[in-house]
Amino acid sequence: MAAVQVATVAEIPEGTAKTVEINGHKIVVCHAEGTFYALDNTCSHAEASLGEGEVDSDELTIECPRHGSQFSLETGKPRNLPAYEPVSTYTVAVRDDAVFVEYSG
Ligand code: FES
Repeated sequence: MAAVQVATVAEIPEGTAKTVEINGHKIVVCHAEGTFYALDNTCSHAEASLGEGEVDSDELTIECPRHGSQFSLETGKPRNLPAYEPVSTYTVAVRDDAVFVEYSG
């Protein structure tokens, strides 16, 4: 398991998401309520980039821009249809001004 620096804190303001690539694998890093979360960027329902969706800091979700399923930032599970399978989540660490994602792929 390697911790890969994917961004600086300033690059992902509160309430936003940024899509990053680690070893060719797209991951969306979200900033909500002062905490960073990382999930697979590709929706579990069809071909859509969650990183282009809206982060909801109150609900701690990101909404798929294609059909509107909202995924928990903490568990990767969708809270509503049409998606019903979770996306993978990854551990995020912040050190100084850098955001790291633990990735083993
Ligand atoms: S592609 Fe994401 S909910 Fe359909």
